[in-house]
Amino acid sequence: MIPDQLLKGQKALVTGANSGIGKATAVAMGRAGADVVVNYVAGREEAEKVVEEIKSLGVRAVAHEADVSDEDQVVAMVNRTVEEFGTLDILVANAGLQRDAPLTEMTLARWQKVLDVNLTGQFLCAREATKEFLRRGVVPEVSRAAGKIICMSSVHQVIPWAGHVNYASSKGGVQMMMETLAQELAPKKVRVNAIAPGAIQTPINRGAWDTPEAREDLLKLIPYDRVGDPEDIALAAVALASDLMDYVVGATLFVDGGMTLFPGFATGG
Ligand code: BGC
Repeated sequence: MIPDQLLKGQKALVTGANSGIGKATAVAMGRAGADVVVNYVAGREEAEKVVEEIKSLGVRAVAHEADVSDEDQVVAMVNRTVEEFGTLDILVANAGLQRDAPLTEMTLARWQKVLDVNLTGQFLCAREATKEFLRRGVVPEVSRAAGKIICMSSVHQVIPWAGHVNYASSKGGVQMMMETLAQELAPKKVRVNAIAPGAIQTPINRGAWDTPEAREDLLKLIPYDRVGDPEDIALAAVALASDLMDYVVGATLFVDGGMTLFPGFATGG
């Protein structure tokens, strides 16, 4: 349950918000009282549905199409957010994708696409959001921080992942980018943190859960013995963005049912 005024009056931008974790997070931010920009790159209809769902909660929401790896489009998106809502308080840099292949079949295009969206995209969004955070500064009635950035990482910022070198490298990069920005921006009262989801049931990993055999294999990697829901991440994002977590700076919150606990060692080693 989300205390419904936890983010009252705050303005949030969630990238990749028309499906999966981003969608659940955008709706949860709305439920917590924030106005929300629902970014998407493809799938306008789904984005509009998310907007309608958020509006029905009694807050404002708009859909905005932008490719987070395109500098001009990110600049325009943050400008639009400020035009619509007056300012920005929370960025959830969530947009991400996988283009899997074994190394010898990993084309430069696949490598580059994943790095562009998952890492460069977060960098561009963080940079533009921070300009607005610093322009406006702290408004104590709204939040103790001038701004909050949540980078959507993955357990694969620490777990190597054969066949996914582009994705794992992008998330390793997200960790260091997040920690560096957290160090750089903390004195300016901008809190930068990450969430590292484990296996969350979304379109990105359908093959890992949509047959009984795949699910059984997947559950061997999850001590808590259930596949995560987008809502598990959304609730963590709301809490992390709120002043409940005002002293949390530069942290990665693993929301993974224990996937990073080396479950193979529960019976071995
Ligand atoms: C990936 C999923 C995967 C999960 C756990 C996520 O970051 O996007 O495909 O199921 O990590 O391995």
